[in-house]
Amino acid sequence: MKNLILPGLIDTHVHLREPGATQKEDFETGTKAAIAGGYTLILDMPNNPEPTITPDAISKKVKLATGRIYSDVGLHFGATRESSNFFKEIVDKVFALKVYMNHTTGTLLQKDPKALQIIFSSWPKEKVLMVHAEDETLKNAIKLAKKNGNKLHICHISLKEEIELIKQAKKEGVQITCEVSCHHLFLTEKERKRLGPFAIMRPPLSTKTDQDTLWEAIADGTINTIASDHAPHTREEKLNTIQPPNGVPGLETTLPLLLTAVNEGRLTIERLIELTNTNPRKIFNIPEQPDTFVEVDPNLRYTLDARHLYTKCAWTPFEGIKVTGKIKRIILRGNVVFKNGSVVKPPKGQVIYPVN
Ligand code: NCD
Ligand code: ZN
Ligand code: ZN
Ligand code: ZN
Repeated sequence: MKNLILPGLIDTHVHLREPGATQKEDFETGTKAAIAGGYTLILDMPNNPEPTITPDAISKKVKLATGRIYSDVGLHFGATRESSNFFKEIVDKVFALKVYMNHTTGTLLQKDPKALQIIFSSWPKEKVLMVHAEDETLKNAIKLAKKNGNKLHICHISLKEEIELIKQAKKEGVQITCEVSCHHLFLTEKERKRLGPFAIMRPPLSTKTDQDTLWEAIADGTINTIASDHAPHTREEKLNTIQPPNGVPGLETTLPLLLTAVNEGRLTIERLIELTNTNPRKIFNIPEQPDTFVEVDPNLRYTLDARHLYTKCAWTPFEGIKVTGKIKRIILRGNVVFKNGSVVKPPKGQVIYPVN
């Protein structure tokens, strides 16, 4: 079969870690990893040690990114009671508000019901409000979105129960979309022992039954997007701490794993494009990237190997897995940005803003 042409992939859930945690990743290494994974556009999460919760923090990120990014980068804004005062001022600069309703990396956990009500009611109704809300917490997120009329997007779903809650909310007319990540699609709790700290993430790896339900939800349209939830932490941090940090990298392994699923007949190429390009673009009002595409050889077989990754953390929970489908070339706005297995210098990425 001849090479396949895909639109540049879009990842709406990435942790680039700059400023504040550049030992894990930075704008350069993270966007090189994005390109090497077929992503020409990624959206950066706000849970840095210096969180994206003020207009100044946004300006600082934009300044740091400019001239150093290989893929296009847009930003999300972090929700706190105080940051809600800035919503009107920053709304055109970011793609979504991110509300952390469970404990995870960073300091943005929102538990106080009053603060949550202020956050949900102040965020503009026509713009996406993303939540980290696992299991029981998801019920509360849906309740708040229903009451306040929000456009709700659920991050990294991993459980059968969550799929059921989302289906029910859709029936009740709640504006709700959701994403899934490859660690939940391709690994289960059985892998925890083998991978140790490298399998620790939020939400945790779930059961085979949960995983089967996620694949069904991809097929029946309940799942709207696939995001990497690229959450790099150093080997050192994973191995030498009593409570290793939550998160795994994913930018460079997501497309090969999905192409493998296509090769095995578990996913169609049309659905892959919807989940990684068309749907994210619609949900988050992402601008078009003219003259941008990814050329892949859908039959090339190889083994995932951390030594070939651009991410600064230099490991993957998918180490040693055989995949089918490899990126040959990537064009971004007419520029060759990836060829012969390497990211091409100089960086051609831009900081981007939502279309109205
Ligand atoms: C993420 C991180 O490290 O920033 N970790 C994770 O386990 N997914 C945070 C998050 O997305 O919850
Ligand atoms: Zn999360
Ligand atoms: Zn995340
Ligand atoms: Zn090798």
